[in-house]
Amino acid sequence: MARKSACCRLSTLEVLLIVLFLLMTAISVGLVTVFVLHFNSQTHETPDEPIPSVKPERNPYLIGVGRADCTGPVADVPLMGYANPSQIAGGIHTRLFSRAFIVDDGSKRVVFVSADIGMVSQRLRLEVLKELQVKYGDLYREDNVMLSGTHTHSGPGGYFQYTLFMIASQGYYKPSIQAIVNGIVKSVDAAHRNIKPGRIFVNKGVVADSNLNRSPHSYMNNPEEERNRYKTTTDEQIVTLKFTDLDGDGLGVLSWFAVHPVSMNYTNRMVSSDNLGHASYLFEQDKNLGSLPGQGPFVAAFATGNSGDASPNVRGPHCVNTGEKCDFVNSSCPVGGSRLCMAFGPGNDMFESTRIIAENVYKEAKELYGGAQQELRGSVHAAHQWVNMTDVTVQLNSTHTVKTCRPALGHSFAAGTIDGGGDLNFTQGTTEGDPFWDGIRDLILGPPSKEIQECHNPKPILFSTGEMNWPLPWHPEIVDVQIITIGSVALVAMPGEVTTMAGRRIREAVRQELEVDGAFSSPDVVITGLCNTYTHYTTTYEEYQVQRYEGASTIYGPHTLSAYVQNFRGLAKAIAQGKTAELPKGPEPPFFTGSGLISLIPPIPVDKAPENATFGQVLEQVNPVYKVGEVASVTFVAGNPRNSGDMRDRTYITVEKFHTSTGAWSVVHTDASWETRFYWIKGSDKQSNATVEWHIPRSAEAGVYRIRHFGHYKKGFIVPVTAYEGSSDEFRVTKSFYY
Ligand SMILES: *[C@@H]1O[C@H](CO)[C@@H](O)[C@H](O)[C@H]1NC(C)=O
Ligand SMILES: *[C@@H]1O[C@H](CO)[C@@H](O)[C@H](O)[C@H]1NC(C)=O
Ligand SMILES: *[C@@H]1O[C@H](CO)[C@@H](O)[C@H](O)[C@H]1NC(C)=O
Ligand SMILES: *[C@@H]1O[C@H](CO)[C@@H](O)[C@H](O)[C@H]1NC(C)=O
Ligand SMILES: *[C@@H]1O[C@H](CO)[C@@H](O)[C@H](O)[C@H]1NC(C)=O
Ligand SMILES: *[C@@H]1O[C@H](CO)[C@@H](O)[C@H](O)[C@H]1NC(C)=O
Ligand SMILES: *[C@@H]1O[C@H](CO)[C@@H](O)[C@H](O)[C@H]1NC(C)=O
Repeated sequence: MARKSACCRLSTLEVLLIVLFLLMTAISVGLVTVFVLHFNSQTHETPDEPIPSVKPERNPYLIGVGRADCTGPVADVPLMGYANPSQIAGGIHTRLFSRAFIVDDGSKRVVFVSADIGMVSQRLRLEVLKELQVKYGDLYREDNVMLSGTHTHSGPGGYFQYTLFMIASQGYYKPSIQAIVNGIVKSVDAAHRNIKPGRIFVNKGVVADSNLNRSPHSYMNNPEEERNRYKTTTDEQIVTLKFTDLDGDGLGVLSWFAVHPVSMNYTNRMVSSDNLGHASYLFEQDKNLGSLPGQGPFVAAFATGNSGDASPNVRGPHCVNTGEKCDFVNSSCPVGGSRLCMAFGPGNDMFESTRIIAENVYKEAKELYGGAQQELRGSVHAAHQWVNMTDVTVQLNSTHTVKTCRPALGHSFAAGTIDGGGDLNFTQGTTEGDPFWDGIRDLILGPPSKEIQECHNPKPILFSTGEMNWPLPWHPEIVDVQIITIGSVALVAMPGEVTTMAGRRIREAVRQELEVDGAFSSPDVVITGLCNTYTHYTTTYEEYQVQRYEGASTIYGPHTLSAYVQNFRGLAKAIAQGKTAELPKGPEPPFFTGSGLISLIPPIPVDKAPENATFGQVLEQVNPVYKVGEVASVTFVAGNPRNSGDMRDRTYITVEKFHTSTGAWSVVHTDASWETRFYWIKGSDKQSNATVEWHIPRSAEAGVYRIRHFGHYKKGFIVPVTAYEGSSDEFRVTKSFYY
């Protein structure tokens, strides 16, 4: 049954076919409940009064940092990233957080948000901006708010309005998107409330052995003289901003590093913030000593960079069946094809790999934070436009203009990557269509038009999404481009994933524009991936020619990068000339309402406890004694975690320690803790279990502990859910065994 799929690939043909079929059946026969979502204007809390911008005396910046839980439903919802239909949420390893940074130069204000989610979708951004508008009026807008997803592949989906992404998410699911919108807005609220005068420092370093180019065949197709300018095939640079108050006390840290958060593979079903999220966790736990995860004032965010072809699985790919090397060009194995070519490492399992990458990134960021000397000064700027990416004309040189295309995905999209290969017989690096699959596609969806085929050449088109509009357009046409500058640091918001070399070209172009007429001197240009709108990948023109996964997923055709470079140049120029207000806004993206936004997530079924058992009852008890380093485990009779509703800032589990002196229990871990794993396992006959593991750290104090679980069960469709809780027996943790 194990089906695999690609990193960030949003669907396999097979899934599409099944889902299309289901959809049609559902609608015509009415067998499945299809929820038609309506968007009524919601009631809002009274808006906070916007804090007027005041010029700080000693320093140009006012700084606010904030963090909020944005963990959505942890059951039944597909995890977003691998598009693997069997990867349905079932519990929590670590919680997801949104982290917001507000910087005000006394007259202008910018906001950067990094959220532990797969990507920011256009729908998510539009909903967040609507909320901010209601609360803050025109203070926080599309031009000065930048939203970035870390690209964890273990966060719930369901927050998309374009059909291809809805299919990968089983539709648009209100509880999913609401949790993220509310989490992001709450993190901005928190940052807004604690704005104070402060200072910002920038520092740069290198994180070695933590990313690997997963499409070297594409990379090698870039011009030799360009490649020769770089030592590595992925960017190892980490850029860190340190935020302090005027006394030098740390408020927060914000870093960018180019790595895919796919250390947790598609067999994982627990919600997890993966490697970059765990780097945040480590930094925050270090600074907020004694706080539970997600609490404490210090905020540490790790956003992703030009990570489109940067895998964290640094032991690299091999054939899991034979141990051979995979084919360089198509990443397939002699026996078993692409599916069996997988990359692993640096750890021995996915948890260890997540931890090692996170520690590498965190340790370097901490060094840079400690040693940061270069202070940022000067104004903040924000430039933003909406661009119709299907219709950009790029002037290549004095004689040649080229155009972007209406979106389409190539055959290699269905092959996936070495971080999770496709389960069908597609391979990467193909410029030939497969007559078999083309035939099936033509039968169901109709053939792509000649115009689209020519525009995307040499991409053999698998899905001509620009020509697919049912029930809603399959891909966006209107895309956000945005640059924010804080002093000499420029943040470029990529609406999707950009490869290493493509990112370098964008950085260079933006730097050049900023430096014209000395507007900026040696600016640090940072690519922030997965921002604002999701549009899959952007490769260089040369990488596109070999059509590996990333090239096949460059949906606006071979000149996508040139179009972005041109657009970002325009924004950078406007910033350098102080003319951002004169930038044309561009065409507004659509905000779909009505019956096109379907949900295939079933309503929460009734829960049943096994005969003679009650909810919260222990089915498998803990041992009486554990030694540090061991795993305590307990299994409870459970209800569906979705019954508990919005669980942000709460927990399904606790690990508690008994204090003999006071006779009281205190919480030492929650479901946000790295040390705990909350597995929700759905069985047959409406029964389910919650298994809680505590991976007892060596640093744990000896003593008496217990593990508790909190949930709700549903007796019937009209009665309200009932709360339950359960507790393990008390058990002892020792530093060593004394029997
Ligand atoms: C992958 O490429 C190799 C040659 O480099 C070829 O022999 C092999 O057949 C290809 N595999 C597939 C599945 O296309
Ligand atoms: C996922 O990681 C686990 C180890 O944690 C490993 O056993 C499994 O083979 C991996 N699966 C894939 C598809 O990478
Ligand atoms: C984008 O451009 C295409 C091609 O010119 C056009 O057909 C389409 O209507 C445009 N979309 C929007 C939303 O303006
Ligand atoms: C312009 O670019 C095209 C395509 O790259 C190239 O063939 C042509 O020689 C270039 N012309 C000039 C004048 O540089
Ligand atoms: C993929 O499988 C189909 C059906 O078995 C077959 O017709 C087609 O030739 C295969 N394609 C490749 C590239 O092997
Ligand atoms: C449930 O309890 C009843 C009465 O004590 C007993 O007869 C029955 O065997 C129990 N069922 C199970 C499955 O333990
Ligand atoms: C729950 O755990 C019990 C005890 O291990 C086991 O017998 C049962 O099959 C489990 N049920 C599910 C739904 O996993």
